[in-house]
Amino acid sequence: MSTKTYEFKTAVVTGGGGGIGKALSQQLIKNGKTVIIVGRTESALGESAKEIGAAAYYVLDTGDIQQIRKLVEKLTSEHPDVDCLINNAGVQRLIDEIDINMRGPIHLIEELLRHFKSNPMRSLSTFHKSLDSWLSLISPIYCATKSWVHFWSMSLREQLEGSSVNRENPDDNKENAPQTMTTDEFVDELMQMWMKGETRIAAGPGNKIVNAWEERMQPLFENMAH
Ligand SMILES: NC(=O)c1ccc[n+]([C@@H]2O[C@H](COP(=O)([O-])OP(=O)(O)OC[C@H]3O[C@@H](n4cnc5c(N)ncnc54)[C@H](OP(=O)(O)O)[C@@H]3O)[C@@H](O)[C@H]2O)c1
Repeated sequence: MSTKTYEFKTAVVTGGGGGIGKALSQQLIKNGKTVIIVGRTESALGESAKEIGAAAYYVLDTGDIQQIRKLVEKLTSEHPDVDCLINNAGVQRLIDEIDINMRGPIHLIEELLRHFKSNPMRSLSTFHKSLDSWLSLISPIYCATKSWVHFWSMSLREQLEGSSVNRENPDDNKENAPQTMTTDEFVDELMQMWMKGETRIAAGPGNKIVNAWEERMQPLFENMAH
């Protein structure tokens, strides 16, 4: 499936202060997008924002859902041009996985949709969703939360008639697993597909599994949805 998923102006990237979120933000900024990064540690956000040229940063623990509405109100009033959310922040740590990987993205999208819908110029086709993962059978809850994000996004995308980006990504520890990609390699592959307008982005070694699985599952899903 190909859509205009890359046609947005201003993205909010959760977890944009480090790791994949930062690398992705940097690529987007290089490509002329405006990026606002979100994370828990103000000092790291400040340094990263300066380094990569992010337009702004906001402190938020995406797992603390009580904070989300207020933060989104502040962010959208200060940056009304926001038209893309990248739910990247995620952890592989029992206890927090449900809150950060699942509850946070739901509440962020719910709050931001109010803003996207309030402006007729802001097309839902510029709505983007989380970067999700398919990996590591050694972490059952983590994998389940990421699969959940994937199915949830498919349905939401269908409901919104918009588009989104998701990802299946590798463990980027090359020392332990030489077949895996570095963060930069991963982000490069992701960007190439995203800029082509792909809605389902399966970068990295999990690509084959994801595509094989999607090939079987997508027609069934389409059939149910239409
Ligand atoms: N790296 C991998 O190999 C890999 C593999 C599979 C999936 N993933 C997924 O890809 C995404 C990014 O992974 P990563 O390795 O880049 O992550 P990371 O390096 O652990 O964290 C990246 C950034 O996220 C922020 N962050 C973490 N929890 C947050 C929260 N609750 N609220 C706001 N910001 C938060 C961190 O800053 P603060 O701590 O200051 O908030 C950090 O700057 C995650 O969803 C992860 O599950 C990564």
